[in-house]
Amino acid sequence: MAKRVAVVSGGIGGLGTAICVALARMGCKVVAADLGGDAARVAAFESEVAGHDVAFAPLDVTDREACAALVDDVQQRHGSLDILVNAAGITRDATLRKMDGAQWDAVLAVNLDGVFNLTRPALVGMLARGFGRIVNISSVNGQTGQFGQANYAAAKAGMHGFTMSLAREVARKGVTVNSVSPGYCETAMVMAIPDGIRAGIVDQVPVGRLGKPEEIGRAVAFLAADDAGFITGANLPVNGGLFISF
Ligand code: CAA
Repeated sequence: MAKRVAVVSGGIGGLGTAICVALARMGCKVVAADLGGDAARVAAFESEVAGHDVAFAPLDVTDREACAALVDDVQQRHGSLDILVNAAGITRDATLRKMDGAQWDAVLAVNLDGVFNLTRPALVGMLARGFGRIVNISSVNGQTGQFGQANYAAAKAGMHGFTMSLAREVARKGVTVNSVSPGYCETAMVMAIPDGIRAGIVDQVPVGRLGKPEEIGRAVAFLAADDAGFITGANLPVNGGLFISF
């Protein structure tokens, strides 16, 4: 059988890179779609994924037309788009009293509108081919809320609402839709939290450490596998026990 073709938005980011590698190890052809403006960042990514079937494609997920064009291009080049991982995400942390409209808009545009912009065109081919795996990278903070993250938590909780709704719509068509909710991991996003605040958060993690990006990659690969077809509309928490719920 031909290799499954995967697109990972935010694919050159902290979690995105590990997700690309995990999917490539599983036997997929992977397109890492991410902002291309920072050449050094792209070069670092390319050396990290060297030896794997992973290619970079520039994409701003807030650009709806560019998302549709990327989907067309991937399907034309590779014949299919079977797995979509929506991992593009940013933070603009501030207490709501101090949060300005730009901080709200930027987070909602990337973290939530971006999911619509890329999933909508990708879904068309998945439904036509009768197979698809969509994995949305949400966050533990979408489940619990977090001080300073009204924008981010709203977007991340919104992603899971999207997941549950779309899962119902496409369940009969061979397409599954799930969320992964990472906790605090070793990424630049988490390292940008002031040291004292971050240390206080790690103290509350039962496993006693930050997560490794590969531990998120493993969860995504599990849900994206061909034989994960009976798991849909689910949220898989990967948070070191920070939020344990039924
Ligand atoms: N709970 C309750 N009170 C808190 C608090 C908390 N978690 N954190 C701070 N406070 C208190 C402070 O003690 C302070 O009290 P006083 O005014 O009495 O001194 C008050 O709230 C104001 O706090 P700050 O001085 O911290 O406010 P600030 O405006 O300087 O900073 C902030 C606000 C930028 C949001 C900062 O608190 C912060 O960076 N917090 C971390 C947010 C966070 O966890 N982000 C996650 C990013 S990683 C990610 O998102 C990945 C993922 O999915 C897990």
